Order: sequence, then structure tokens, then C-alpha cells
Amino acid sequence: MKAPQEKTSKNLQELGVTEPQQVDALFAEVQSHFDAESSKEFIEILWKEFRDEWLGRRSGVLSQITDNWLKPAPPQLKRAVGAALNKLRASVEGKLEERRLSIESSEEKWALARERIDLSLPGVIRPLGSHHLIRQVFQQIEDIFFSIGFSVVEGPEIETPYYNFEALNIPEFHPVRDDMDTFYLDLPKGAAQPLLLRTHTSPMQIRTMEKRQPPVRVIVPGKVYRRDNPDATHSFIFHQVEGLAVDQDITFCDFTGTIEYFVKQFFGAGVKTRFRPSYFPFTEPSVEFDVSCIFCGGSGSAAGGGTCSKCKGSGWIELFGAGMVDPAVYGFVKYDAKKVSGFAFGMGIDRLAMLKYGIDDIQVFFQNDVRFLRQFP
Ligand code: FA5
Repeated sequence: MKAPQEKTSKNLQELGVTEPQQVDALFAEVQSHFDAESSKEFIEILWKEFRDEWLGRRSGVLSQITDNWLKPAPPQLKRAVGAALNKLRASVEGKLEERRLSIESSEEKWALARERIDLSLPGVIRPLGSHHLIRQVFQQIEDIFFSIGFSVVEGPEIETPYYNFEALNIPEFHPVRDDMDTFYLDLPKGAAQPLLLRTHTSPMQIRTMEKRQPPVRVIVPGKVYRRDNPDATHSFIFHQVEGLAVDQDITFCDFTGTIEYFVKQFFGAGVKTRFRPSYFPFTEPSVEFDVSCIFCGGSGSAAGGGTCSKCKGSGWIELFGAGMVDPAVYGFVKYDAKKVSGFAFGMGIDRLAMLKYGIDDIQVFFQNDVRFLRQFP
């Protein structure tokens, strides 16, 4: 129903109103019209139209009443019209404000309802990954060496022959290079020097000693590459941790004590250790370090009888190469070989992990089969 425009557009005289009682009756009519209209359901946009219809400055019902009824009212009615208009205005404004608030709060409720997060819905389950076993073993080794004062350094996987060989006392035609022959990078003609994928982490011995003065105590975890044919114990990419300790008066005893401490921490107190003479151009003397076989407890016999297949009946498993740093190496890094001494070692991490976790094929580390990876969360 439209506002009572047919009445509010006329003046009191035209409406035949001459008595104050008639004024009250007229206003009562307008009020009841307003009450009926304002009690209907509103949404925001219609509420605004309704408000303008009643309170609009130019053609709103109240403005029309002011212009057509109040202003031209004869003096005997003016007071009654003014009072009735004030009452009507208070009622209209009050009601409109009340409705505005209720519309707003219900709109808000709708908006909240639309945006509500339904916590009862199952979420998207993203499986959590874990560190690769090799990474876990790196971490265990790092923790053990941290506890005795070593720190970690890392170096480039692409090396120059100088750092990979020459500065480690392996000149160009030294036969040991045959064992470590490796992948060279295809470089543009005229490149300053050949580059290769490092065959061991030992180049970091040189790089570290070039940068630091003794005392030096570092370990170097990282990837290394060799042109080896893949089999159960060989891969052309594998992992090593290099160790280097150089200071005044470091002896062979410090060396064996450190290695034994590491092995017992890593494999457990029950393992036995031994050294065998070996050869590396950058250590003198050089040793191979063995541990008693983890699989047969060092007996050499398999649990079900016969010889242990892992240590081939010897009771020992070769772990890594090591030795006292060859004084010739100090010459390459300008250390005084008469004043300093030290030891170095290089462990194959993949084989260490195989031994500790009873894995019999190195290739599983690189195949990324989740059935294998999930066994080491
Ligand atoms: C070296 O690489 C020396 N740089 C170690 C060293 C460092 C000696 C410091 C003295 C002082 P070797 O070539 O033996 O040594 O390799 C070390 C270990 O790497 C081996 O004991 C073995 O565990 C591992 N390894 C060698 N070749 C492979 C391969 N193809 N796949 C997986 N592991 C390998």
C-alpha cells in the first residue's frame, strides 16, 4: 500500500479539517497506515525505499505534512498539528531505526552462516613426509661429532682436478686415479681448466685448511660421484662424511679414540673395532677401519648355521678409510708440517646405513620406492 499521498498532498482546508479533534483523527489514520506498512517483512533494499517514502526530504510523507498541513494551518490548529506531527515523527523514526537494526543483524547472521567453516567436514589429508634414511644417518653422525667439538662444513660437488686430486698428493699419472676416475664436465673449448664431479669429500680438507688455521675440527657431509658400475654395494652417486682434525700434537691415539667413540655411539657399545694397514696418498700411515659384523655378532657364522653372508665368515666388516694427514698435504695449504699434525677419515654413508639397518642393496636408497621409505619414518 502506498503512503497516504492523496491526503498529505492536500492542505487541511481541502481536507475539511477545522477542529483539533479532526487533526488527531487525521494523524491517527497516517499513523495506522505507517504501522501497517512497517510491520511487513523487509530486506535491506526495500527498507531504504520505505524510509525515503516516509522521511525523504522533498516528497517524504513527513515533509509533505509539514509543507501541506503544518505550514498553511490556521492559527487555531497549528499547535495541534505541530504536536501531532512531532509524535508521528518520533514514532516513524523510532520504528525505522528499530527495523534497521534488526535487518542488519539478520543480514549479518546470514553472512556468518554463509561463511561458517564446517568443522565436521573431513579435511584434505596431506601425508606428512619424513627425512630420507640417508639424511637421518647424516644427522646421527653430525650429532655424534658435534658432541665432541666438531663442526660441519659443506663444499662444491663440482670440483677442479687440483682440489680433487693434486692438492691431496695425487699427481696426474698416479695409479690411484684409476680407482677414482670420474665424470668430467663438457666445457666450451678454451675453458681455463677441466671440471669434474668430486669423487670424494676429501677436497674439502684442502678448502678448509686454506681458509682456517689450526685448530681445525670439521666434518663434511655430502654427495660424491664415481664411474662405478651399480651393484648391491656400489652406486655411481653415493654419500660420504669426511672428517678432519688438525692441531698441535694430535696423535694416532687421538685418532683411534675418536673413531672408536664414534663407532660405539653409532652402532652401540657392543661392537668391536680394528684397524688394518692401507694406502691413501693423502694420509700416512693409512688404515682401513673395520667393525665386528653387526649381523653375526662377529662370530662369522649365520644364525641358521653356515657362514655369515654379510662378512663372508670373517666376523669383520670394512667401514672406511682413514689415517694421519700426510705432511705433504700441509705443503699445499701452507701449514707448517713440523708444527701441526692431524687425522682424517672418509666414511661411505650408504654402506654405514646398510649395516646399521640391515639393508642388503644400496640401490634402494636411490629408487624412492615409498614402501621402502615408509619403513624409516
Ligand atoms: C676415499 O674416498 C677417501 N677419500 C677416504 C679417506 C678420507 C681416506 C680421508 C683417508 C682420509 P674410498 O675410495 O675407500 O676412500 O671410499 C670411502 C668409502 O666410500 C668406502 O669405504 C665405501 O664405504 C664408500 N664407497 C666407495 N665407493 C663407493 C660406491 N661406488 N658406492 C657406494 N659407496 C662407495
